[in-house]
This record gives sequence, C-alpha cells and structure tokens, in this order.
Amino acid sequence: MEQINNYINSNKDRFLNELLDFLRIPSISADSAYSADVMKTAEFVKDKLMAAGADKVEVCATAGYPIVYGEKMIDPSLPTVLVYGHYDVQPATPLELWETPPFEPTIRKTAVHPDGAIFARGACDDKGQVYMHIKAFELMMQTNTLACNVKFMIEGEEEVGSSNLGIFVKANKERLKADVVLISDTSIVANDTPSIDCGLRGLSYVEVEVTGPNRDLHSGVYGGAVANPINILAKMIASMHDENNHITIPGFYNNVLDVSAEDRADMAKTPFDLEEYKKDLEVADVWGEKGFSSIERTGIRPTLDVNGIWGGYIGEGAKTVLPSKAFAKISMRLVPNQTSDEITEIFKKHFESIAPASVKVEVRPHHGGEPVLTPTDSVAFKAASKAMEQTYGKKPIPTRGGGSIPIVALFEKELGLKSVLMGFGLDSDALHSPNEHYGLFNYYKGIETIPLFHKYFAEFSK
Ligand code: BES
Ligand code: MN
Ligand code: MN
Repeated sequence: MEQINNYINSNKDRFLNELLDFLRIPSISADSAYSADVMKTAEFVKDKLMAAGADKVEVCATAGYPIVYGEKMIDPSLPTVLVYGHYDVQPATPLELWETPPFEPTIRKTAVHPDGAIFARGACDDKGQVYMHIKAFELMMQTNTLACNVKFMIEGEEEVGSSNLGIFVKANKERLKADVVLISDTSIVANDTPSIDCGLRGLSYVEVEVTGPNRDLHSGVYGGAVANPINILAKMIASMHDENNHITIPGFYNNVLDVSAEDRADMAKTPFDLEEYKKDLEVADVWGEKGFSSIERTGIRPTLDVNGIWGGYIGEGAKTVLPSKAFAKISMRLVPNQTSDEITEIFKKHFESIAPASVKVEVRPHHGGEPVLTPTDSVAFKAASKAMEQTYGKKPIPTRGGGSIPIVALFEKELGLKSVLMGFGLDSDALHSPNEHYGLFNYYKGIETIPLFHKYFAEFSK
C-alpha cells in the first residue's frame, strides 16, 4: 500500500490533468452534432491505454461508436480481469444551469467534497471512474505489481443503450475471455461509508403518441366537444399509479422477486439520513410506494416515470389551441425477475386498453435492459471488499443500485461472466444533471483501491 500511495503522490497532478483533458472532449453519444468528438474520445482512450502499457490496443468500429479494447496478458495461469466502462456522456443541457461550462472542467469545494470536486459532464459518469482504472493499471505496470491479466473494454454508447456492444461481445467471445468483469460506474453510500452494489435495476423505455383530431383546432370553437390529447394523456399517465403509488398495469408485479425480511432488515441498516436527503433536493417530503423505505424504493422496487412530455403550444404568450397530438417518454425501472420485453409488452397492451375512443395511441419501444443481481459470496466480491476495507478503513456494505447498466446481464448471458460493481461516485454527484462532479478524494481513492482488488483477486483465486 505504501508503494501505491508513493506512486500516486508523485504523479498526483499529472493524473488529474490527464483526466481534465479527457473531460474536455464533449463525447455526447445521444447528439450526432458531437460525433467527431465521440470518435476523438475513443482515440484518447486508446492513446492512454497504450501509454499505460497495454498491448493490442484497438479502436474497434461498430455500427455506432467504437469500442476501445486493450489488454495485458502476463501469465496464462493467472486470473484475468475484464475492465468495462464507458467514455460517452449524457447531453449537458440545460446549459444555463451549469455554474461553469460542462466541458471546461473546474475544481471547487463542496460541503460533501471539502477537498474539492471536478465539475464537468462525465466527471463521475463515467470518465472519471474509467480513468482511475487506466491510471491504476499504469501504476501496477510501473511498480511491477500487476497481479492479474487485464483486459479493457471501454465503450462509447452506454448512455444510449449499448445497442452495438452485444454484437461485439457475441463476436469476440474468445478475446473477451476472463474470470470476472470489474466495473466502476456506480456509487458508494458516502465518502466515509464504502459500499458495493450487488444489484442494478433494468429498464423498459417507451415513447407514446396520443392523437386527437386530425389538426390543431381553435380551443374555443371546438374545446369541450373534442378530446384534447394532452388532457387525455395526462389522465392516462396519472391513472398508472394508485393511491398507494402502486403501479396499476395488470401483471406489472407478477415476476417481482420478493426480498426476504432478513435482507430488508439488512438494507435498513444502510446509513440514510432522510432529512439530509430532503434538504439536498429541497423537497418538503419524499414520495413513493407505500410500505417501502426510500432505499427500498430505489433498490428493490420497480417504478414508472415520465421523463418528458410535450405537445401543443409552448411558445411565448398564449395561443388558444386544442392540439392534435401529445407525446411522452416513459421509463420503467425493473427489478429481478422482470424482463424488459415482457414489461414493454404489458405496458403497450395496457396503455392501448385505457385510451378512450376519442383518441388514437401509439406506443414505440426504445432500448431496454435487464435487471441483475451480482454475487456477494464470490472470490471477486471478497477481493473488492477486502481492497475497499483496506483503503477506507471500513468494510464496504452491500447495496442495490437504482440505475441500470444493461450490459451486466449481457456479460452473464453471453460470456458466462459475473461482474463486480466497485463504483466510487456518490449519488449526490449530479450524474446526468447540471453541475455533475466527482470528488478528488473519490478519484484518488479509486486509483488506490483498484490495484488492491487485482492483488486480492489473484491471491484469493489460488
Ligand atoms: N452509471 C449509470 C448507471 C448507474 C448510476 C448505476 C448510479 C448505479 C448508480 C449509467 O451510465 C446510466 O446512466 N445508465 C442508464 C441506462 C442506459 C440504458 C441509458 C440509466 O440508468 O438511466
Ligand atoms: Mn455510467
Ligand atoms: Mn449514465
């Protein structure tokens, strides 16, 4: 550990400056205006992997954005760790809510990050966390302490559903052979409370279109006599939660895996300050399914949320119009053993069935992803736990992540590989929001912890 800390201390500024360069490239995968930047970012990752000492580094083209692959195979008798992460980021809009521009990283102190945090889109999700692995790898190479074979697979389409990664994985099974997948793209409970996610939610995402009359109408001449698709859509959406905030789609909960009273009691031990949570979000109260705590609501329960809704007149002033169409983007977070195909199908059926005859509806499915549970009794989990225990001085607690990383289920299905979700961010780091940031403490803690994971994984695999 002393050797690790010495290397980090003598390279601290460079480690940071390289990450800032990485963050300056706006690799927004959702917006084609940035496609050249996304491609540039793949090259950046390639260069840095090569500089750190990886072999066979390649920017692998796909039908979408490329996957950067690299490896260091030192001994076939040693276990192999496949590191997965993503170099693409979410759009930064609304830009006016950023205190400093999203692609001009700046360091500021916050209450949660008294040592400073890097403010930039992708700082935590996931460039900062990917870069920890590249620097930890450099450290192991330079100090001659690499304990496992390592493979890197860093993709550029995670934020848009990883639709080409599955194809790549299926076509490269031999190349991707490993003993475990190591992913840093999740959060810990707090900087003094390390944790490891042992589950992630899945996702079913649809867009709905509600059509009333064949054209926009005068809302005085026709209003009251013809269905307003926005009014109807609002009512349909509202009807999908009952008074207990339970989702009303028939069959929605059929396959939801019950969590044992024992596991729920364990979850209740996770440090969580409801008052702090409300204060941070400036809400007078929380919301959610009756009978479940906030931690359970995001960890073990499925949800249905409108992500965006539009239609009619939203320009300046008032225009009296009865619109022809209304739209919404709706996501459902899934838990084991729901599947995205099944949920999308029953949503579609239900949505069509509750539409009155006065409107037509269309449901268009987007990308989905499956929920996962990752083992807590594996050699890899124990290695991650021991590594974190050593660097944080506290044993990490198992948690459930509310977000989704669809590729985790795919690794299991296609490669037969389990993942370890050793993330280092905080839920309050504003991922996907304006002013995303990543603590300097978290960044360096990750670089310090990762080599120990490799060390213990090799040791425990013997
Ligand atoms: N890194 C997140 C997922 C995440 C964040 C998991 C925090 C657990 C804790 C990932 O980049 C992400 O945002 N995933 C998307 C899904 C994807 C299909 C667009 C999500 O969860 O919305
Ligand atoms: Mn991510
Ligand atoms: Mn994300």
